[in-house]
Amino acid sequence: MLERLEALAGHSEQPDGLTRVYLSAEQRVVSALVSEWMRAAGMSVRLDAAGNVVGRYEGARPGLPCLMLGSHLDTVRNAGKYDGMLGVVSAIECVHAIAGKERAAGRRLPFALEVVGFADEEGVRFGVTLLGSRAVAGTFDPKALQAKDGDGVTLAKAMRGFGLDPARVGGAARRRDEVLAYAELHIEQGPVLEAEGLPVGVVTAINGFSRMTVAIGGTAGHAGTVPMAMRRDALAAAAECVLAAERVGASEPELVATVGRMEALPGAINVIPGEARFTVDVRAPSDEQRARALARIEAEFDAIRARRGVSLAIERLQDFGVTACAPWLMAQMDRAIAAEGVRVRRLPSGAGHDGMAIQAIADIVMLFVRCEKGISHNPVEAITPADAETGTRVLLRFIEDFRPEQR
Ligand code: GLV
Ligand code: MN
Ligand code: MN
Repeated sequence: MLERLEALAGHSEQPDGLTRVYLSAEQRVVSALVSEWMRAAGMSVRLDAAGNVVGRYEGARPGLPCLMLGSHLDTVRNAGKYDGMLGVVSAIECVHAIAGKERAAGRRLPFALEVVGFADEEGVRFGVTLLGSRAVAGTFDPKALQAKDGDGVTLAKAMRGFGLDPARVGGAARRRDEVLAYAELHIEQGPVLEAEGLPVGVVTAINGFSRMTVAIGGTAGHAGTVPMAMRRDALAAAAECVLAAERVGASEPELVATVGRMEALPGAINVIPGEARFTVDVRAPSDEQRARALARIEAEFDAIRARRGVSLAIERLQDFGVTACAPWLMAQMDRAIAAEGVRVRRLPSGAGHDGMAIQAIADIVMLFVRCEKGISHNPVEAITPADAETGTRVLLRFIEDFRPEQR
């Protein structure tokens, strides 16, 4: 698994670091690599209409509903090697182990297994997240096809360039009766498991999130001639907005708000910025708390706009409510953990995951694996081989003991 993770990390748009976005040349290479591993594990493999890699291992009879496993193959910019990918390689490893045992014993599980390598979870390229998993869930919003990347290329055009037909993304959708449940192994991306000395934990719910872009319009001017009191500096206004968002994010426990990207135009050392754009990402464990925070952030932005005499336009990109993991699946995951001799710890997820989309068609459960210092979305992201193994053993046991009738 670790060798495979290294191999995946080698396919990046930049040589010194890992960035792999949706519909990129690197995605194509990685899809081929993962397809090969899936086939070697005993699965039949297809690339679906959204570019997700889907491996299938049949159960006792062909065509049975599946237990869906997997995670994403895209990354953030300058990413770590485990976010997403660990869930894909560990699931392939589980199928490989099961296929080996079943060949020896001449029996099959009473359900099929599918492993999906989602093509877009992070939403880095087009600003809209979960494009791959929402296609699988049948909730892909065709409006997203007009979203543009940093070079002005629309999602529709990028799909065509990749060999996909944007009019047929709906073909990736799965029916509720085809999927018994969705189980994803993922690094924790936070510090809780490490602090408690535990290799794994069960996720209770995934925090909801809202994303927006904000555009501020001021007046571009000469950096040497316009007196300070006469400026309408768009970037200075944006800077105040960043601090306002930070203040709101810090004002309640478990609420977070982040400005992750900002640009100033025209972007010259001797020009007062006439335009500034930035993103805001707000997350909370309750939808009501998130709505309250958004209202406060918008009110603060509006006050800054009025005081500085700039224009301010907010475009809401995406809102996702809190996604609860299913109690019956959490109970089965608890048992798998306990059977591996590990104390059961349940914890919420601050990060977003493909399960947020998949819950539209199936109950979901997640297994978190400890990561070093809780650091993620960072090239220093690290796990231990022992934890990867424990996590995979728990997932394997969960699959082998999976009881869909407890739904
Ligand atoms: C995905 O990793 C997210 O939570 O933004
Ligand atoms: Mn991520
Ligand atoms: Mn992830």
